[in-house]
Amino acid sequence: MAKRVILFSLNLILLVIIFPLSTNAVTYNVVRYGAKPNGRTDSTKSLLRAWSLACNSKKPATMWIPRGAYLVKTIVFIGPCRSTRVTVQIDGTIQAPPRNYWVIGNSRNWILFHGINGLTINGGKGGGILNARGSHFWDCRRSGGSCPEGATSLSLDNVKNGIVSGIVSVDSQWSHMSVNGSNNMRVRRVVLIAPAQSPNTDGIDIQSSTGVAIVDSSIGTGDDCIAIGPGTKKLLIQGVKCGPGHGISIGSLARSPNEAGVEGITVKDVTFTGSDNGLRIKTWPKPSNGFVKNVLYQNIHMNYVRNPIIIDQIYCPGTKGCSNQNSGIKISGVTYLNVYGTSATPIAVNLHCSATNPCNGIKLYNVDLTYSKKPASTFCFSAAGTSKGQVLPGSCF
Ligand SMILES: *[C@@H]1O[C@H](CO)[C@@H](O)[C@H](O)[C@H]1NC(C)=O
Repeated sequence: MAKRVILFSLNLILLVIIFPLSTNAVTYNVVRYGAKPNGRTDSTKSLLRAWSLACNSKKPATMWIPRGAYLVKTIVFIGPCRSTRVTVQIDGTIQAPPRNYWVIGNSRNWILFHGINGLTINGGKGGGILNARGSHFWDCRRSGGSCPEGATSLSLDNVKNGIVSGIVSVDSQWSHMSVNGSNNMRVRRVVLIAPAQSPNTDGIDIQSSTGVAIVDSSIGTGDDCIAIGPGTKKLLIQGVKCGPGHGISIGSLARSPNEAGVEGITVKDVTFTGSDNGLRIKTWPKPSNGFVKNVLYQNIHMNYVRNPIIIDQIYCPGTKGCSNQNSGIKISGVTYLNVYGTSATPIAVNLHCSATNPCNGIKLYNVDLTYSKKPASTFCFSAAGTSKGQVLPGSCF
């Protein structure tokens, strides 16, 4: 009996020793492939070398960027990879060239991951920082000179089954992050920062993607906190703080006449602070076969937001090529449940739908927003639905 017990524990010990060895990820430290943590030496090629080894590894593999600052120019991490467990561990800072914004601004993406199944991008404590150093590029745009188109800092194109965790993106030229053609992705604990006055610095742009979750994150930028584009399905946004910026926007839609719809969007436990908009749906007044359906906004806290709830189907900045037209986008099944706090303008709920495609199934349940310590009001055009509980005074339903 005693022998058996000893044998059994021996086996257990062997298992414990052998099992981790056989499954442990192989790690490729970018410094071993020439990257310099001094913030000055171009480390682009070294990162690509480490990536190609990690991506070609049969075993789960990690590309490791240790502490320190690494200068990196436009870079594309291409799949497919051999294993479905590839990790990019960023304990340091990746930064763009300090002054010459053309270097990354000449292509649409600064750091692009393309065509990968099973990708984890992880920022270590005090690290995981992507600094695009966008300020000179914004200056160029403000001065109206000739500028490059500007790069998104972190782009995920055609990525499946992925996690982005603990990343801090600072001063992107254009958007901080883009998720395009990607499925089953989880973005968590990211911090995205740019000044309120920086032009077009969206937090996260999503399109043509199914099953994306953005959770426990903080986004303060010059443009949309999160922009939800055509072809976004089953999106969850939960535990996110937005502001400054332009809020969480579905749209703009109907940019083109043939457009995939947006459906199954849940925005929950979100706080907006000092933003231009809170929950916005915006569509151009142009023909389109697109739609927005099944949207749930729940437990939303507004702190001094200019347009807390807004559907704008006459979105036409510059009024070019869209006057006297109606939006073809059909909006249905949008629920606002427990939306409370303060509005910075008298009209806190503004539902301006398409004259030819009225919004239907709009639900306002417990919408309690104040302006100057009094209940704010509502404006509606071409919108149908129901309201329950405490709802603002106004012209709806
Ligand atoms: C999204 O991906 C498609 C297909 O790869 C590409 O044509 C398009 O330019 C991408 N859009 C953005 C905004 O990245």
